[in-house]
Amino acid sequence: MLWMAAESKSALQESLLLGGQLPSRHGRWQESSRALRYGAAAATSLLLVALMVPGILSNARCGWSAREGDARPSVFTAEVLREQTAEAECIVNIFLVRHCDKNPPWSKDPTPKTICKAEGLFRGQNLARVFGPGGSFPVPRRLYARQLAEGKFANRDLFLLWPLAQRLGVMVNTSFSEDDMLGLAEALLAEKEAMCDAEPKRREHSVLVSWKHCSIPALAQALGCHADRCTTCWDDGDFETVLWLKYTTLARSGAWNLSFQLGSEEFHPPTRVEGYRECYGSSVESSNFGLPCKPPISWMTGGFPPRPNESFN
Ligand SMILES: *[C@@H]1O[C@H](CO)[C@@H](O)[C@H](O)[C@H]1NC(C)=O
Ligand SMILES: *[C@@H]1O[C@H](CO)[C@@H](O)[C@H](O)[C@H]1NC(C)=O
Ligand SMILES: *[C@@H]1O[C@H](CO)[C@@H](O)[C@H](O)[C@H]1NC(C)=O
Repeated sequence: MLWMAAESKSALQESLLLGGQLPSRHGRWQESSRALRYGAAAATSLLLVALMVPGILSNARCGWSAREGDARPSVFTAEVLREQTAEAECIVNIFLVRHCDKNPPWSKDPTPKTICKAEGLFRGQNLARVFGPGGSFPVPRRLYARQLAEGKFANRDLFLLWPLAQRLGVMVNTSFSEDDMLGLAEALLAEKEAMCDAEPKRREHSVLVSWKHCSIPALAQALGCHADRCTTCWDDGDFETVLWLKYTTLARSGAWNLSFQLGSEEFHPPTRVEGYRECYGSSVESSNFGLPCKPPISWMTGGFPPRPNESFN
């Protein structure tokens, strides 16, 4: 409850502060406002870690919402968001999740690159429960994972989705490479109308994307989310969070409202922040796509020594 209140407050503040800025190429984080941004990131991450509980955390809470193409996101109350959903002629949900669990390359027991550790495989099994019929989320009809590397026939994204894909009888689309993450966002945004038209009797359509965590905040931003969670880098220890973007439209006007919620896979919430900063300097971290990503608290407090040219203070 506390988390929900805090999250909606920060979402409110943020939409006022951000004013729907379009992404620009920020390069690496600039010194000037670092301290401020670290403070905000710290508060958010601490709340997340301290208060994360299983289940959908923020269903129907006060929400941040933007109309696509608006210069400035609007803040809608929970009641207005419920109304938007009730009145919508078509709803498209895009869910973003991280691939299944691994041990990082420098740990005692690193997980080979294309597979997951046992816990990660169980996570995939659990995903088939929460995103399958009778689960906690609307059932997705489309599944996406990163393109496989040359000569490889599996990756961690696919292992996460495999039991769900099998349960639903849906092929996972791996057409988009991790370098073409923006292409995926563009295609999904462009195909919302087509999803509605393809099955006019069905009002709600859902898409689930499993991806590398370093790019998920940028993917969410490319899909229109400017909430604090979407502009903060992903904590390395978090395999659990679900980002839920909901687009609603009335009378096929071509205009859409977008709202953002945080969910949980209901499997294994992180028990502590992880400070290994895998995404720092990664070629698919947000800034490589020209989108901002603030360091989460774990990057500063994880007890990991600074990497070359890096100073967190
Ligand atoms: C993969 O997804 C993209 C975007 O939705 C679509 O254009 C493409 O046809 C899909 N590929 C396959 C093989 O289904
Ligand atoms: C977006 O939400 C506002 C506030 O509820 C509503 O007035 C408007 O009609 C909605 N637009 C669409 C396209 O759903
Ligand atoms: C790191 O710092 C050194 C010395 O200040 C500089 O020459 C080098 O270009 C820096 N490297 C990066 C990746 O910023």
